[in-house]
Amino acid sequence: MGKNVFDQSYAVNKVKRRKENGHNSFLILFTGLSGSGKSTIANHVEIELFKKGIHTYSLDGDNIRMGICNDLGFSEADRNENLRRIAEVSKLMIDAGMVTLAAFVSPYKKSREMIKNIVGSSNYIEIYVNTSIETCETRDVKGLYAKARSGEIKDFTGISSPYEIPDNPDGTVNSDNMTLDEAVQIVLQIVEKKLTLEL
Ligand code: ADX
Repeated sequence: MGKNVFDQSYAVNKVKRRKENGHNSFLILFTGLSGSGKSTIANHVEIELFKKGIHTYSLDGDNIRMGICNDLGFSEADRNENLRRIAEVSKLMIDAGMVTLAAFVSPYKKSREMIKNIVGSSNYIEIYVNTSIETCETRDVKGLYAKARSGEIKDFTGISSPYEIPDNPDGTVNSDNMTLDEAVQIVLQIVEKKLTLEL
């Protein structure tokens, strides 16, 4: 924190918002390769939570990179800064009482650890979307794998930039041999345990 800046506390705080909402607030990070199905799974998890009256908000790599992170590229330092900003935004969302879903490649263990530290480990769920690179590349929904192979895009995760597999995620899903509904149910089971307010 810069000097001459002071932490201010407000009467309407996280505890009051959680109580008013009737559920806990936390971050669900979906990590995995581009095209692995992170956004699709997060989207459907959010639909189910929303139906139950849970207050939710989704942050998505592609969307965020058009706005608050449009000055960043895909070097290790830029990805780290991208995720630091996402973690700080998520912390605000958690403070606002929201179950926050974030779909980001987040390929480095160090940056996932940083996210967990920023939001607090008790407010963090990590879901590894473990779809194989072969499936992601065959689908190539955005045409980015072809561009990465031809060298048109550098530092592409899984091709010319690493993806560090999570050691101990709270859940693992994929879209190789699991239906979307199966993946969504696995995530919901993990999330539901955390929704209950401990007052
Ligand atoms: S992260 O590594 O910093 O977490 P983020 O999730 O924000 O990445 O952005 C990834 C999205 O940007 C991908 O889904 C893809 O559409 C696009 N993209 C463009 N260039 C790259 C690249 N070099 N590596 C990975 N994704 C890229």
